[in-house]
Amino acid sequence: MNSFELNKMIGAILLGGFVLLLSSILAGKLVVPHKSESPAVAVPAGEAGGQATAPAAEAKLESVIPLLATADLAAGAATFKKCAACHTIEKGGPNKIGPNLWGVVGGPHDHMPGFAYSDALKGKPGTWDYEGLNTWLFSPKAYAPGTKMSFAGLKSVKDRADVIAWLRTQADTPVPLPDAAAVEAAKAAAAAAPAPAAQPEATTTAATTGAAATAAAGTQTAAATAALPDLLKAADPAAGEKIAAKCKACHDLSKGGPNKIGPNLWDIVGAKQAHLDNFNYSDAVKGLGGQWTYENLNKFLTKPKDYAPGTKMTFPGLPKPEDRAAVIAYLRSLSDSPKPLP
Ligand code: HEC
Ligand code: HEC
Repeated sequence: MNSFELNKMIGAILLGGFVLLLSSILAGKLVVPHKSESPAVAVPAGEAGGQATAPAAEAKLESVIPLLATADLAAGAATFKKCAACHTIEKGGPNKIGPNLWGVVGGPHDHMPGFAYSDALKGKPGTWDYEGLNTWLFSPKAYAPGTKMSFAGLKSVKDRADVIAWLRTQADTPVPLPDAAAVEAAKAAAAAAPAPAAQPEATTTAATTGAAATAAAGTQTAAATAALPDLLKAADPAAGEKIAAKCKACHDLSKGGPNKIGPNLWDIVGAKQAHLDNFNYSDAVKGLGGQWTYENLNKFLTKPKDYAPGTKMTFPGLPKPEDRAAVIAYLRSLSDSPKPLP
């Protein structure tokens, strides 16, 4: 053994000692101040030393909603490396073990045509809104039992927020970030959630799903939760006239105009239901016996068959609240003295 090798050995021993010392100082620093608390505080030390990992069972699903606006996109891109084993992200990129993820935020649960999704995702209603992605990335199996995504999940809420905020940018038109109301709702839900006990996961999920609905995506969701009076105030009668082209197949809308397959609809807002004596209504509509208030029109036009089972109006309905509001605003204008808005 020459002296050079000896030097290296001594060096290695010294270095090893130094590392040991350093990590015990580090661990000491991080653990000591919290000594009296639960073992959960050992997690930072574990992460710093790269050894102990937090017991997965103790991880709690926290909402990413309050974190998204200030998330670290670069960290999100780095976290995505874990996903890149199975996913490409670039626009038009191929599917791998998992589907390409361009534009997934806000998209449907099987957003990439041509990928063979499991039934767990194919059959799942709704979209990839923020809270859905949060739950999914926390535990894919819990969100969609039977999924093919064999990935344990990201237990750190910061990791999830960063990667979701970054995924959001990987789209032609990124969906809006959660608005202030959604952030407040998420915080309130978190505050209301019971401390981790019997079923912390389930409770948190349920509590945050409501927030997700508000958070999901800008105007569309805002419309879904906005009250009818607000929608009517914002409605554009001219847009309603365009949609009402669908109604004109069966309804004349002019003053003194004829009945067609359906009754003339001049001055219908505020009129009594089955408002014309010279039209042969179904018993379903004749029997309603109320008024075409804004609220009733809104319900009827959502799905005529649900509001008046047995109606002769064979029209599936207008599923979008904004569309209904626009049509109702237009119908309102078809009157000598339009009724006041609600
Ligand atoms: C071991 C492979 C694998 C890893 C790692 C993985 N995924 Fe997946 N992922 C899949 C598979 C497979 C599917 C399809 C699941 C199904 O059909 O049930 C999927 C589906 C998805 C979907 C739904 C896509 C859609 O089109 O609806 C999202 C979102 C997603 N993964 C995000 C991620 C993110 C983010 C990560 C990293 C944090 C990740 N995945 C890590 C395999 C993986
Ligand atoms: C396929 C034909 C058809 C289409 C399309 C249609 N309707 Fe009707 N509508 C009818 C018929 C038929 C009735 C009478 C229903 C009954 O008696 O059960 C009716 C009744 C109504 C009534 C009740 C009128 C009253 O006097 O009480 C309203 C309001 C109405 N329709 C609005 C609309 C609007 C708005 C649209 C477009 C968004 C529309 N309808 C599209 C056929 C249609």
